[in-house]
Order: sequence, then structure tokens, then C-alpha cells
Amino acid sequence: MESIPTRHRAHDALGLLVQCRPGFEADAGQELQASPARLAAAVHGQPQSGFVFLALEQALPHDELRRRLDVSRLVFARQSCQVLAVIDDLPERDRLTPLVQRIEGFQERFSALLLETPDTNEGKQQSGFLRRFGPLLEAALGKAGCLRPDSPHLPRLHVFFVGARQVWLGVSLASEGSAWPMGIPRLRMPKEAPSRSTLKLAEAILTLLSPDEQKSTLRPGLTAVDLGAAPGGWSWQLVSRGLRVTAIDNGPIAPSVTATGLIEHLRADGLTWRPKKPVEWMVCDMVEQPSRIAPIMADWVATARCRRSIFNLKLPMKKRHDEVERCRQLIDQRMRAAGVKYVLRIRHLYHDREEVTCYLTRR
Ligand SMILES: C[S@@+](CC[C@H](N)C(=O)[O-])C[C@H]1O[C@@H](n2cnc3c(N)ncnc32)[C@H](O)[C@@H]1O
Repeated sequence: MESIPTRHRAHDALGLLVQCRPGFEADAGQELQASPARLAAAVHGQPQSGFVFLALEQALPHDELRRRLDVSRLVFARQSCQVLAVIDDLPERDRLTPLVQRIEGFQERFSALLLETPDTNEGKQQSGFLRRFGPLLEAALGKAGCLRPDSPHLPRLHVFFVGARQVWLGVSLASEGSAWPMGIPRLRMPKEAPSRSTLKLAEAILTLLSPDEQKSTLRPGLTAVDLGAAPGGWSWQLVSRGLRVTAIDNGPIAPSVTATGLIEHLRADGLTWRPKKPVEWMVCDMVEQPSRIAPIMADWVATARCRRSIFNLKLPMKKRHDEVERCRQLIDQRMRAAGVKYVLRIRHLYHDREEVTCYLTRR
């Protein structure tokens, strides 16, 4: 991909800014290029920068861009926003005044302010500044009448700092971007959970399911299967919500998880094992080829062995976007063959590294 052009930044260039895990710019860019079939646009991004920019040839009204490009389908986007302006020459002595002036100039009101940076080492160095600057900017925008926290239907304002002097200004609806600045959830590691990968399932639940879906499908009395469960981090997320879990793995499950009394541990092959009775949930974190896992997951849902599933697809080091699309097709083939309509959501979560996390259920 080419580097980001610097010339057209003085005025409002409308496009889409997508934040991703550093190293995944090519994948985020490829999927942007693949999605907007009816957009004249070019993708710009630098390797390891943690973001890519889809620059439109002609500025479009927000609703029109939204209609043409469904950002909720993007896999590699941790966070996204429509760009209203890029300021390159913010003075280091007073960044507040010109920023507030520019934002006031949009003549829009915003429900929230999201202060963000790329998730890179340079970005992290700015976290101290952002902690101090955030309240000042919020107060100034509140005073100028730009912020209306009591009106959640209004767009959110993204202020994305790239270095000390460059800032991108953008908007998103709460329903399309991540609720967390930079798409990074602040999740507490539960004391009793035996592995950090417990946070991956916690994030998947919060990201891939609506609050209503979480409430109705993750409650005491329901049953689940965890394929490749050891040492039990994912199982712990389910039992802590009161579900009964059958944990499939040849490895041991941690005592803190078995002590809940809600776990049955079976030493079996997760690729071939099937339950005698249908379950609400099947989750799967087995390290296997994605093209092997995807049809198995689809088969569980297509044959109603489970109503819904969250699973990981471990990706190759290169052509990750292509691999995700291949798995999407494999799932589609299996569901079509069974005549089953379905919902499939795929996301490269903050806690994912070389993998993506999927949610699959019947429609
Ligand atoms: C990444 S770990 C799972 C971590 C787990 N989700 C947690 O939160 O603690 C992958 C597990 O899958 C298991 N596994 C891999 N292939 C398997 C198979 N064919 N059948 C059963 N378990 C398998 C491995 O033994 C390993 O414990």
C-alpha cells in the first residue's frame, strides 16, 4: 500500500479511518478495497502504523457513505470513523484552541468524545498527554455547545492523534464503531480464571452479541460445549454465568473451574466428538487449520447440535483477509446445503493475535 498523502489534508477530505492491530494494515486495507463496490476510493496506510485510510475521490454525505459501506462487516477494524478533517500543524504550545475552533466549524453536535491514538509504541507514549488533555477538551467543547452526552443518537466525535502535531477528526454512530476508545476493552482478569485467553471470550461476548443477546443466551440453566477447553479460561466465562459446560480436551482443566461443579470434563477429540442432546452454545479454541475448523463449526449449527457458536480461526501469517473470506465461503456452503439461514459475525478482537473470532447462529 502507498503511504498516506499529505497534500490534501488542509481541507475536509471525507473518507473512512480504520484502526487495526499494528501489522494488520494490509488486511484491513484489502477488506476495505473489497467491500465498497460502489465507491471511488483509494486505500492508504503504512505498515505497522495501526491504521488505514479509505480516501474517497469525492466527499460524500455521512449517510450516503454509511449506506454504501457497512462498517459492521469489517473484520480487521477495531474502531472506525468517517473523517471530516486532518490537521497537520497543531502548535505544541496550545493544541486546544485551534482544535476547538475547527470542531466548532463543523457545526455539528456530538454525543461523546473519543480521544484516540494508533495502538503503537509512539501512540502509547501519548497516553499521559491524552489523560491530561481529554478533560480540558471535553470542558471546552461542552462550553462551546458541541457536546450533548444526553443525546446518544448524535454522532460521536473521534479525535485521533498521530504524533504530537497531527490530528484526525472524525465521526461515527455508537451503533457502528466500538464503544471503547481505539476499540480496546478495559477488561479485568478474573482471579479464578486459569488463563488469559478467558479475556478473549469475554471480549467476544461483549463485541459480537448485543446486550439483549447476552442476557437471553448466557444464563443459568443453559448448556454449552467447549472444544479444546484446557486449562479452562473459556469454560470459566460460561460457568461464571451459570451455564453447564462439557469441556472437551485431553489436557487437564484447572481446579478453580472444576470446583464450580458445573463442568463435565471429557478427554476426547474435539474434531469428531458430538453431544447426545442439542446444546445452546458450542465454543471452540482448538489450534487447527481454519479451513478445517470452519466447516465443523457450520456443521454443528446446521444440524442444530448447538444453537449458537463462538469460535476462533487461527490465521496464517500472510493473506489473512483471503483466509477469512475462504472460511466465510466454507461456512456459507455448509449452511446453504442444509437450507439454513444464518448470522455470521467475524472480528479481529483486541485480545486476538494471529486469529479472528466468529459468532455463528441460525437466523
Ligand atoms: C489455545 S488452547 C485453549 C485455551 C482455552 N480456551 C482456555 O481459555 O483456557 C487449545 C486447546 O485445544 C486443545 N486441542 C487441540 N486440538 C484438539 C482436539 N483435536 N481435540 C481436543 N482438544 C484439542 C489443546 O489440548 C489445547 O488445550
